[in-house]
Amino acid sequence: MNTSMASTPITSFKNAIRELVRPIKFWYTLKTQPRQNKVYTQFNRFPHQYQALIEKVIPRFIDADGLSTRGPLRIAVFACCTGAEPFSLAYTLRSHFPKLEFNIQAYDIVKEVVEQAKTGRYTQEEVDEGDFINNEFIESVFDRVDGGLEVKQCYRAPVSFDVGDMLDAESMSSIGNCDLVFAQNVLFHLPADLAVNAFSNLCNLLSPSSVLFINGMDTDMRIKYTKKLKLFPLNYLVEEIHNDARVNRGAGWANQYWGRGPFSTKSREWVRKFGTIYSPTEWL
Ligand SMILES: C[S@@+](CC[C@H](N)C(=O)[O-])C[C@H]1O[C@@H](n2cnc3c(N)ncnc32)[C@H](O)[C@@H]1O
Repeated sequence: MNTSMASTPITSFKNAIRELVRPIKFWYTLKTQPRQNKVYTQFNRFPHQYQALIEKVIPRFIDADGLSTRGPLRIAVFACCTGAEPFSLAYTLRSHFPKLEFNIQAYDIVKEVVEQAKTGRYTQEEVDEGDFINNEFIESVFDRVDGGLEVKQCYRAPVSFDVGDMLDAESMSSIGNCDLVFAQNVLFHLPADLAVNAFSNLCNLLSPSSVLFINGMDTDMRIKYTKKLKLFPLNYLVEEIHNDARVNRGAGWANQYWGRGPFSTKSREWVRKFGTIYSPTEWL
């Protein structure tokens, strides 16, 4: 045993104090740190969220043959950045539900990232940014073209990209109802009043059976507004999905507003607080 690493009563005491102080520090960070748009993404960012999608969400929309019970699923991905999220979603759906028809319409406010997304082309470094990327994923999703990686046509075909602003209530209402709505790792980058407006615009796209994916939203706001808008959180793999996000964002806690603290069931509202998947219809 390395004796220099052994904890003494003093270091244990200091650690205990630090653990007590960190939530307060994070509360202060959330209240005072300016929010900033961040143009950053990863492929396959939340594998456990995809597991919940496969096991709990899509079964709501398909029959015993794996066919949609309502025509092609309408899926909207906001804050799509350079396209890693909608392409990862298309790959997940195609590979687990080969008979399912779906269309993904993806939006971002930054024109340049939308232009790159439309090409479906990435450098090896961009793809390797993903915390949960392995060779199997790369070989399944991409063709190697001119020294880069190009998303295979079968995963590009169902995805369209456009410049779009979640805060523009008029253009949001012109989209109409969607079965699945994604707006991930974006609301916490907005000042509180704008995050609430965006959340309300997103919820206007939901029909009773729709499902909203909302990783990356301040947890106090998540509790308050999912309750106010009568959304039910999916209580499945909540801790695992939270910990997927901590791989990338855990180090930012408690000095960065985007930091992700440790999972805990202490709060009476822990499912609503740590949940990332919500629906206007109760989960079975
Ligand atoms: C941190 S990235 C998240 C990308 C992706 N959703 C993910 O989880 O990997 C945030 C993205 O949100 C976009 N964004 C910020 N405000 C937006 C808005 N009002 N409407 C649409 N996109 C927005 C940014 O341009 C940026 O590309």
